[in-house]
Amino acid sequence: MSRYKINTLEEYFKEYKKSVREPRKFWDKIAAENFTWYQQWEKVVDFNMAEAEIKWFTGAKVNITKNCIDRHLTKKGDKTAIIFEPNDPKEEALHISYNELHQRVCKMANVLREQGIKKGDRVCIYLPMIPELAITTLACARIGAIHSVVFAGFSASAVAARINDSDCKMVITSDGGYRGNKTIDLKGIIDESLVNCPGVSNVLVVKRTNTSINMKEGRDQWLQSLLDEASDNNVAEIMDAEDPLFILYTSGSTGKPKGMVHTTAGYMVYTAYTFKNVFNYEENDVFWCTADIGWITGHSYILYGPLLNGATTVIFEGVPSYPNFSRFWEVIEKHKVTQFYTAPTAIRALAKESLDYVRKFPLKSLKVIGSVGEPINEEAWHWYNDHVGDKRCPVVDTWWQTETGGIMISPIAFVTPTKPTYASLPLPGIQPVLMDEKRNEIEGNQVTGSLCIKFPWPGIARTIWGDHQRYKDTYFSTFPGKYFTGDGALRDEVGYYRITGRVDDVVIVSGHNLGTAPIEDAINEHPAVAESAIVGFPHDIKGNALYGFVILKETGEYRDRENLTNEINQQISNHIGPIAKLDKIQFVSGLPKTRSGKIMRRILRKIAEGDYSNFGDTSTLLNPEIVEEIKNGKI
Ligand code: WTA
Repeated sequence: MSRYKINTLEEYFKEYKKSVREPRKFWDKIAAENFTWYQQWEKVVDFNMAEAEIKWFTGAKVNITKNCIDRHLTKKGDKTAIIFEPNDPKEEALHISYNELHQRVCKMANVLREQGIKKGDRVCIYLPMIPELAITTLACARIGAIHSVVFAGFSASAVAARINDSDCKMVITSDGGYRGNKTIDLKGIIDESLVNCPGVSNVLVVKRTNTSINMKEGRDQWLQSLLDEASDNNVAEIMDAEDPLFILYTSGSTGKPKGMVHTTAGYMVYTAYTFKNVFNYEENDVFWCTADIGWITGHSYILYGPLLNGATTVIFEGVPSYPNFSRFWEVIEKHKVTQFYTAPTAIRALAKESLDYVRKFPLKSLKVIGSVGEPINEEAWHWYNDHVGDKRCPVVDTWWQTETGGIMISPIAFVTPTKPTYASLPLPGIQPVLMDEKRNEIEGNQVTGSLCIKFPWPGIARTIWGDHQRYKDTYFSTFPGKYFTGDGALRDEVGYYRITGRVDDVVIVSGHNLGTAPIEDAINEHPAVAESAIVGFPHDIKGNALYGFVILKETGEYRDRENLTNEINQQISNHIGPIAKLDKIQFVSGLPKTRSGKIMRRILRKIAEGDYSNFGDTSTLLNPEIVEEIKNGKI
């Protein structure tokens, strides 16, 4: 797999130019030289950006798990594929070799087939960060079932919405999950959600916490007893390059989550390529990405990217603060982690604690440290660079999205000079452009605009499950002919990119994308609430926190505002999950609206930030007096 490695800045520029001049030739070579195919492609790429139709490696036949596992067995069957570090540091870590991973994925794949799951069926996986999460996900890919991993922090109704949207037949969950000193009742959440999911007839349950749970007759089965019976001989399904590999839900600016669909070959090529280069992966490295597999970062850089490269990847069940704030550093030391990849929100939370927590550990094994999920502020960047990377490990600030499948703009470790808060340069194959409000491409440097990508890359999501029109409208219509990211960016004097944040109604809280609309919908269901508007405001640790402006119905009930605030937050927890709770709620008598009825969020954002200096043009406001009232907090 070393054939696509970039080693110097000069090589990067050379590769980059090639990738823009002859993208087909560029990706053709990478795909041909680094993977095992049943059958080669007829065409490298086929696309129509106006219709949002994109295909890569058409006609090729492949199975991603053959590339993640089987092909490594002859040379490195005994090498550790997965290190499982449990929540409780006293519980022993597990080392799963490529041979064992193969055996376990094959068994699981056979269980799925025996349970009637076929190529193209959707399987919802709702598991904590335990090896079974990786194994069940890979087993789906092995038999061509489409996995839909739902982050195990989502509430029952959020899970139900995701299960129903893609008609999942089966759910795989566990009796519970550990998170710090808490035990989460995952099976209880699934029981509650399945009341509203008539399509699910089969639930497989992993034993993790030994919590006593209800097993519904005819629906629920313990996974282990099925595995005990299963053979470890399994022939992988031959997949078409463009067969869907998985669905992963992400928030949008309207209420319904978007089921982003990633397909097989392009995703495989792109995650493998970016993993190898960005993190300077070498044979004996131990790679640790702290994300949850329930997010795209975990899909691409805990599972697929590392395994495609035959790497050792860490699956960590716990949290950075348990049993104390040294946990990350202790784990790095324990497993001699070489690449560490985390989120700015975790960095900020740890930087707030005593330096002794990190100083206790020399962290000499580290060679690259990465950041993802939201803009990393200057202070956090320096803390990370100084105290974790010891100023010798490059900080790779990687910008990308669920929709992009893999890293898009990022330094390549030991190749691209880093600059604090800058994601720096596009990876080969990626053609970013900045667009102005008149939809023109902004040329030159020292400019800001809306970030678009003007040529497809293999990892791009192909559609939104069941709603291609929405895919087209969301990503390809704002700037015709281009993929619109929803982010704003700045390009500095040398062409480095800095992502400035979302330009749409998505707020990133602790690295989680939250659409404001579904939160507003949840609040509005409270009987006392007439209307609400949510905006983000800066928060020291979470990056952004949520501020809710709420109009009450005029019933005179609910005089106890504290109770009401708690109830509203409970409502949000029930609908979406605790991550979407509001940090501040202000009760108001109206919201600033334009004559066409649109809430002017820009003004609410300023108020939430405590910046009353300049509200900009308010001439289109229907009710300018409300701004004064909200500002004064009177009601
Ligand atoms: C933001 C996570 C600045 C951005 C992989 C993007 C970032 C959204 C960075 C996607 C970064 C991600 N610098 N902003 N390095 N990485 N973002 O879909 O707003 O969970 O659009 O994918 O996170 O979040 P998602």
